[in-house]
Amino acid sequence: MFAATAAADENPSSAIVCGKSPVATGTRIVGGQNASAGRWPWQASLRQFGRHICGASLINKDWVLCAAHCVGFPKIILTVVLGQQTQQGSNPNEVSRSVKLIIKHPSYDPNTNDNDIALLKLSSSVTFTDFIRPVCLAADNSVFHSGTESWITGWGVTAEGESLSPNILQEVEVPVIGNRQCNCLYEVGTITDNMICAGLLEGGKDSCQGDSGGPMVNRQNTVWIQSGIVSFGKGCARPNLPGVYTRVSRYQEWISSHVCSDPPGFVQFISTGADSDNTYSCSGLPPLPTSTASTSRTTSARSSSKQNSISYFLLLIAILFSFHM
Ligand code: ARG
Repeated sequence: MFAATAAADENPSSAIVCGKSPVATGTRIVGGQNASAGRWPWQASLRQFGRHICGASLINKDWVLCAAHCVGFPKIILTVVLGQQTQQGSNPNEVSRSVKLIIKHPSYDPNTNDNDIALLKLSSSVTFTDFIRPVCLAADNSVFHSGTESWITGWGVTAEGESLSPNILQEVEVPVIGNRQCNCLYEVGTITDNMICAGLLEGGKDSCQGDSGGPMVNRQNTVWIQSGIVSFGKGCARPNLPGVYTRVSRYQEWISSHVCSDPPGFVQFISTGADSDNTYSCSGLPPLPTSTASTSRTTSARSSSKQNSISYFLLLIAILFSFHM
């Protein structure tokens, strides 16, 4: 597409071209289907000694976004592969780069998985093609209500406990599960504001081992916006245990502070209507946010009791007064 109009080594700005997949709808990941070539052109494979270990996503010509738990290894043994549809065999559109710099979030906590995010700088810029281009990132004021349809992609295993990864990139669609409900499903306190959950309560569709670091994206009009990074889960695709993703919108400032030239495209994702998660509750969760209705009821109750005391006071004066007469 625009590879024909742009000079070979001159990319259009990432903020302008981000999130546009030239390929229309065509998922292992669990319960998914094969993805057609070029449908997810930001999908990267992070390899250690040439072996796929994690996913990642291209955010501009020089950087991929990944999970902090994926990059515990020295950068020298890592490579990032882009434009790939299959892990084996020939990929005519494939480009590979070594890693020049790894920036793990300084507050990443391996015990709680909080802030599971890392930036990897490629050894040299990549040229955008129909098969290699950046994704847009959810801006910090983005809102994802429960039920928002999301897509996850990766070369992770297709069943819990399996060891073989699929050859063809897998895709699967799963709805967002709000943080209140997700906390109730895991243990209250497990899901921080820096996380976002997605999955089916009945199970069967999920990311799994080897998908980590890869993107969860949401479509808004014509662009794909990355809302999450595959982070963790209890098993894979189990009922009532959705996948947990790093909430990308919480890191706009952090990402921008490190990715200066060719800034990535941050786009606000908007959910309309009411978020059913706001009224979700279970024991241990902080009380539901007070609604306007109950606030006004309290006010009117308070003002009527004030009116009562005023009338009692007047009545008392009237009685005293009548005694006086
Ligand atoms: N931590 C896993 C990895 O390193 C990803 C787990 C995702 N699990 C899930 N049930 N969604 O690949």
